[in-house]
Amino acid sequence: MSNLPIRTYGDPVLGTPTTNVENIDAKIAALAASMIETMHEAPGVGLAANQVGVQKRMFVYDQGNGPHVVVNPVIVETSGEWTYEEGCLSVPGLSWEIVRPNAVHLTGYDLDGNELDIETDEYQGRIFQHEVDHLDGVLLVERLSDDQKKAAKKFLRKRQLSFSRDDHHGLTQLLGE
Ligand code: NI
Repeated sequence: MSNLPIRTYGDPVLGTPTTNVENIDAKIAALAASMIETMHEAPGVGLAANQVGVQKRMFVYDQGNGPHVVVNPVIVETSGEWTYEEGCLSVPGLSWEIVRPNAVHLTGYDLDGNELDIETDEYQGRIFQHEVDHLDGVLLVERLSDDQKKAAKKFLRKRQLSFSRDDHHGLTQLLGE
């Protein structure tokens, strides 16, 4: 398996909630391997299945200490508050300070079908919330403040009209970099 195209803002697959994985089989393992490769290539620290057009509830992440896969993740509890600058491979080239809960309790399964039960916070907690949002059909743009959201959506709509999905050269020009 190999690198998969990453869907970007405006693609309806990103706004559609995913469905649970019924069987963690060889197909799911192959998908996970491709997602990890795609994430590393991008590069990014997390990738949800619907970002590569697959409506399955699973994500991969790598904070720099090796890749991990979470199948059927559920955030069972959150607490506190943390502001962190967040970007997304599906909204390339942009990032925003976003306020979210700090501590996160996540459950799910690994590729061997073992139950995962992870309590974490800060950076890892942020990755988990961002990826679970994707799987629920929610992009980070929806987590912005009202003012941020208005400006971001206007910018993104304009960019969507002006440039093709993979035109990074055009994007760089638009951002004046
Ligand atoms: Ni993302």
